[in-house]
Amino acid sequence: MTYIDAEQAPLAYTGQIKIYGPEAFAGMRKAGQLAAAALDMISEHVKPGVTTAYLDKLIFDFGMAHGGIPATLNYKGYTHSSCISINHVICHGIPSEKTLKDGDILNIDITYIVDGWHGDTSRMYVAGTPKRIAERLMDVTYKSLMAGLDVIKPGATTGDIGHAIQQYVEAERMSVVLDFVGHGLGRLFHDAPSIFHFGNPGEGEVLTEGMLFTVEPMVNIGKAASKILGDGWTAVTRDRSLSAQYEHSIGVTKDGYEAFTLSPKGYTSWPYL
Ligand code: MF3
Ligand code: CO
Ligand code: CO
Repeated sequence: MTYIDAEQAPLAYTGQIKIYGPEAFAGMRKAGQLAAAALDMISEHVKPGVTTAYLDKLIFDFGMAHGGIPATLNYKGYTHSSCISINHVICHGIPSEKTLKDGDILNIDITYIVDGWHGDTSRMYVAGTPKRIAERLMDVTYKSLMAGLDVIKPGATTGDIGHAIQQYVEAERMSVVLDFVGHGLGRLFHDAPSIFHFGNPGEGEVLTEGMLFTVEPMVNIGKAASKILGDGWTAVTRDRSLSAQYEHSIGVTKDGYEAFTLSPKGYTSWPYL
C-alpha cells in the first residue's frame, strides 16, 4: 500500500492511503461533531410507536438546520438521510413507515458532509425496555469498538485493531460480522484503507499520523453470516439473531488518535442518561 499527501491526491478512490494535515482535522472535527450532535438529539425520539421514517426526517432537518448534508442521500441510489437497522438487521436498514415496538434495539447511522468533510458515526438505541441479552449485546459491541480504538497509534497496524475487536467479542461468545468493514474517509465517504474488525496483530496497513478512518464493528449474538435482502441494501443475520453496531470517525495523531464523533452531551453507549 502506498501513502499520498491528501492535498496532492485526486478527489477519488485510488486505493492509496491519504495523509491529512491540521485543516483536515479541523474540518473532520466539525463534521463529526454535527453527526454526533444529531445522535444526541435523536435519543429522546426513539420510543415505541414512532416510525423510522420519522426519525430519518428529524435527521435530515437537523442536518439542514446546521449546515450538514446527509452523505447517504442519493449515495449509490440510496435515498435516505440515515441507516436505521432494527434487531436482526446488521446494517444499511432503510427507514420506513414501520413503527418501533417495545424492546426493539436499533442502530442509527448518520453521516453528514460539512464543508466537504464527512462525519460518520452510529450508536444503538432501544424502544422501551430491552431484553437482558440485547442489553449485553449492545454493551459488548460498544466495548469492542473501544478496544479497537485503544490500540490506534502510529506504528500499529489495521490488523491490530481488528484483532483487539475480535478477541474481545469472541471471549464474550458472540460473533464479529466479517462482511462489512470500517473505511478511510475525509472528502470522500468511503476510501482506503478498509478497517477489518478481525485479524492478526502486525498484519494489514501500518497506521501513520494524519490517516482518517472509521471503526464500526457489527456484532451478532449468533453466527457471523449475513445476507442482503431483496431491496439491495438491508443486511441481516442469516440465523436471524440480534445484531448491534457502534461507529466512530477518527484521525491518527502523533501519539494516538482523535475521535471526531464523541458525543457533545457526553453520551457513550445506551442508555443515554
Ligand atoms: N454510514 C455507513 C457507513 O458507516 C454507510 C451507509 S451507505 C448507505 O459506512 F448508502 F447505505 F447509506
Ligand atoms: Co456509518
Ligand atoms: Co462508516
